[in-house]
Amino acid sequence: MAGLAVNVDHIATLRQVRGGAAAYPDPVHAAVLAELGGADGIVVHLREDRRHIQDRDLFLLKKTVLSKLILEMAATDEMLAVAADTRPDLVTLVPEKRTELTTEGGLDVISTADATQQAIDVLHRAEIPVSLFIDADTRQIKTAAEIGADMVEIHTGAFCEAAALADKKRLFSSIVDAARLARELDLGVNAGHGLCYNTIGWFAGTQTIDEFSIGHSIVARAAMVGMEKAVREMRQLIKEL
Ligand code: PXP
Repeated sequence: MAGLAVNVDHIATLRQVRGGAAAYPDPVHAAVLAELGGADGIVVHLREDRRHIQDRDLFLLKKTVLSKLILEMAATDEMLAVAADTRPDLVTLVPEKRTELTTEGGLDVISTADATQQAIDVLHRAEIPVSLFIDADTRQIKTAAEIGADMVEIHTGAFCEAAALADKKRLFSSIVDAARLARELDLGVNAGHGLCYNTIGWFAGTQTIDEFSIGHSIVARAAMVGMEKAVREMRQLIKEL
């Protein structure tokens, strides 16, 4: 059975929309609840601009996560130092642009091979396994293996966003082909970005993915399935005034 790593960035996004004045919702609390729900790992992306996850969150998650802590980050000197200090169970290297809403594409490990390999070496010296977030492209997968990655995370965003069924089928096949190749090259295989309660079913029977990394759809669903209870609780408090 494939694993599920839950990304709690958007719990922090909800907290940060109040400009740092609110202490809730806390991604550390959300991580505990995600683990109670069966998460096999907790994922956070510490971005350069700290737009959602803060250093304090990472520090506390390292102390509290019981499953495994996966840190997504850009391969910058600052983040490599944070990773070496924190020692998460896995680092996933991602490309990062200040202006993007979310990670837009996979890491181009071919054009950044030297720098990416150096980052992998630094993380390995700190005994942290490394995954590379890449598009479903055979050349990217082969390069990931050549430069010493332990795993790849295949970008599922384009597949999830495709509207036409023919495009969806083509993009899904390329994910499965890329995952098979990665396995042949002894890489672990994760997949993520944009996966939701509808798209996950496509992976039935493929048995090529070790773990799915899912955030936005789960946080969005949590708001919906929790709304009725949350309103009832406030209604009760008002009744008792
Ligand atoms: N994997 C990576 C590398 C990501 O950057 C993200 C988004 O933070 C995800 C998975 C999860 O994507 P989503 O929030 O769309 O489920």
